Amino acid sequence: MNIRLARAEDLAGMQSGNLVNLPENYLMKFWMYHIITWPQLSFVAENDKGHIVGYVLAKIEEEPEDKGGEAHGHVNSISVLRSYRRLGLAKRLMLLSQDAMYSVYKAKYVSLHVRKSNIAAIGLYRDTLGFEVAEMEKKYYGDGEDAYVMKLYLQSQS
Ligand SMILES: CC(C)(COP(=O)(O)OP(=O)(O)OC[C@H]1O[C@@H](n2cnc3c(N)ncnc32)[C@H](O)[C@@H]1OP(=O)(O)O)[C@@H](O)C(=O)NCCC(=O)NCCS
Repeated sequence: MNIRLARAEDLAGMQSGNLVNLPENYLMKFWMYHIITWPQLSFVAENDKGHIVGYVLAKIEEEPEDKGGEAHGHVNSISVLRSYRRLGLAKRLMLLSQDAMYSVYKAKYVSLHVRKSNIAAIGLYRDTLGFEVAEMEKKYYGDGEDAYVMKLYLQSQS
């Protein structure tokens, strides 16, 4: 299994994984925008045949100058195809993205939304990566489910 930075030619594979794995789906221009704007933050896992089996799509959000102008990372989407789960791929994808947020963009923290019912993802973020629940957003998702907003303060990995 190879994990590397996502490139424009990976976007179709990332999008098709997203369609299979999650109900939150996006137009191709959304995927493209992230890769072009923050080319160091999104990663893919590919199998021996070069098929994309997992991805993380992330961005940077900057506060306005009058509010301190600080940057933080935000994970828009992460998923791994079912038959490649519990191999540590999501953990590796997240750590690479977090490291780039910190080292390239000086991001203070990383945030994300997760469904309250998503046991696997909450396990990954909280138990494996050390995220904490910062707040809850009622009916955040299209089907009315609440989201946890989770945050992790970043520090040097080395
Ligand atoms: C969530 C998801 C990305 C995890 O991917 P993964 O590659 O299987 O995760 P990893 O192998 O890196 O797991 C790391 C840790 O996360 C936790 N975890 C992962 N899957 C879990 C599960 N089904 N139940 C409980 N904890 C789980 C564990 O702590 C695990 O460590 P361990 O295997 O040593 O116990 C994957 O299940 C997925 O694609 N789900 C559908 C899409 C999704 O929900 N994305 C997140 C949206 S917010």
